[in-house]
Amino acid sequence: MDNARQVASEAAAQIADRLGGGFAATVVLGTGWDDAFAELGELEAQIPTTELAGFPATRVEGHGGTVGAVAAGDRRLLVYRGRVHLYEGNSAAAVSHGVRAAAAAGCEAAVLTNAAGGLRPHYRVGAAVLISDHLNLTGASPVEGTEWGTDRFVNLVDSYSPRLRALAAEVAPGTPEGVYAGLRGPHFETPAEIQMLRSMGADLVGMSTVLEAIAARHCGMETLGVSLVTNLAAGMSDEGPSHQEVLDAGAASGTAVGRLLRGVIDRL
Ligand code: HPA
Repeated sequence: MDNARQVASEAAAQIADRLGGGFAATVVLGTGWDDAFAELGELEAQIPTTELAGFPATRVEGHGGTVGAVAAGDRRLLVYRGRVHLYEGNSAAAVSHGVRAAAAAGCEAAVLTNAAGGLRPHYRVGAAVLISDHLNLTGASPVEGTEWGTDRFVNLVDSYSPRLRALAAEVAPGTPEGVYAGLRGPHFETPAEIQMLRSMGADLVGMSTVLEAIAARHCGMETLGVSLVTNLAAGMSDEGPSHQEVLDAGAASGTAVGRLLRGVIDRL
């Protein structure tokens, strides 16, 4: 067994021990998604991820760093509040470890959320956008050095499940879709970089999710990606993006986007 798989099974055994099992899906709540948590269901138990094998400390303000069991109707969810980022100096393996641990704990679907800058002038700050595809511009892969699954040359076509996107559109008709460009950060982009990203086909820009989505596909999980547009990307408004603006947009829209997630979960 390779190391990533070994550590994921260790974490999954600890999750089973402390939070139980029978999880239908894992949900990763990114920056700005804290207020969505209450909409998912009833929290049954929760632990700091640092008490589980393989998780580094998370340090960014607005990132909780816990994993909990949540009852959403008759389904159980494994919910991460806060995630591990490359920009904290972590490896691609560490960034995708939570998703791998969830797969090892039996989750068949992954709902990955994030805060993103919008590259389309018609995106409203505070609105949810369904990720239709991504540009992985991190220069990293969670598959490197692993032998997880049967296929190291992972097929990423339809990584963001058309079925789950259709369920989300049923819950919230008219929710736009977009291509998410994942960069390493933690600096925001320059206006020139945003122009470049737009010409490459990006609609959203952020510093997470892409490695987790690759790992989820590698582990055979069906993935839904949802971005909360927290700001217009650099050069598109008078002010540049700021972390406070990202947190404020999350606080203003968390409840509504949380309901969207719960609606999809009810239809899984
Ligand atoms: N750029 C990168 N990451 C982000 C942004 C942005 O504008 N907004 C929220 N996360």
